[in-house]
Amino acid sequence: MASPNTMSQDEAFVTLATNDVYAKGALVLAESLKRHGTTKDLIVMTTPQISHSVRSALECVFDVVKLVNVLDSKDEAHLTLMKRPELGVTFTKLHCWTLTEYRKCVFMDADMLALQNVDELFEREELSASRDSGWPDIFNSGLFVFKPSLETFSKILGLAEDEGSFDGGDQGLLNSYFSDWSTDISRHLPFLYNLHITASYTYMPAFKKFGQETKVVHFLGAVKPWHYSYDKSASAVTQTDGPCNQGNHHFPQFLIEWWSIYEEKCQRYFSSEPELVSENSSACVISHDLHANDGLQVEEIATNLTKDALQERWEHKNRWESGNVDYRGDDKFENIQAVLDTYL
Ligand code: UDP
Ligand code: GLC
Ligand code: MN
Repeated sequence: MASPNTMSQDEAFVTLATNDVYAKGALVLAESLKRHGTTKDLIVMTTPQISHSVRSALECVFDVVKLVNVLDSKDEAHLTLMKRPELGVTFTKLHCWTLTEYRKCVFMDADMLALQNVDELFEREELSASRDSGWPDIFNSGLFVFKPSLETFSKILGLAEDEGSFDGGDQGLLNSYFSDWSTDISRHLPFLYNLHITASYTYMPAFKKFGQETKVVHFLGAVKPWHYSYDKSASAVTQTDGPCNQGNHHFPQFLIEWWSIYEEKCQRYFSSEPELVSENSSACVISHDLHANDGLQVEEIATNLTKDALQERWEHKNRWESGNVDYRGDDKFENIQAVLDTYL
């Protein structure tokens, strides 16, 4: 695991991925925050359902990968009303209050994308959040500023046991717990910090006027960016998976932004076979990374290494980055010295 960012150890962005699919979103979110120069730590909470290889990918990108147990509301009645029976597991988000090594954090859903630096959010108090576009007297729990505290954690769980959640997910529960949010305007964040992708067609004129100032876009709803495929040369996205006729086709630029980060930074973690052909863009990224880490020439990798060898190098890199160093074997002093020599 990479060591936490020493500049700001007491503040962090936190997200959640309980499975490999949402982990794609978490990786893109983290890369988007980095692209816009965050100085905060990046934390992802995961559950044991995450595969080993995806966990390694998360460890490459996040400062902290925290394993938590699944909390599930199992409240099918309310979740069905919302047409999202899968969202009971969003109770797992509540574990973010247990991150007491941190003074203040910002939780962000894994289906969000930062389009600007948003570190100024740490100047806000608990619980700050933007309005929910479906019911603006409550906040949307896709992004919120909070203060880790075991006391708050246990009080929220207590409320869940006593009253449940009116939507079956974390948003209903958190709005009941922080019910004074609605009357405290100082804790209302601008909508631009949690722009619901649906706003691009529910209120098109406002979206046209203000949309270019968006700080964080939220791909809220059943259809997510990973349900699309991306044609880079045509700069176009097409829905190829997920529930039909619920896509967000109207303004594809956010989806294209998501996909360009995914292709450039994250796809390599998900390809079953590493691609070697150098004209392929993702293959170039892999080669480039190996170049940076192993001191090998890109051309040498593209021409001389077999797929198995590249796979082995990739796994070796993951082992090395997660602190799993084999000092007597692959990572013995002579081998490290040989790599260093290639730089001189
Ligand atoms: N989530 C998860 N696994 C799931 C469902 C949700 O990890 O199976 C997490 C993930 O961080 C996701 C958040 O919970 O972004 C809330 O779910 P989602 O974004 O799908 O809800 P929406 O914002 O569309 O209502
Ligand atoms: C909402 C929020 C999401 C939350 C879900 C369940 O639509 O966008 O963050 O997890 O409801 O309450
Ligand atoms: Mn979401």
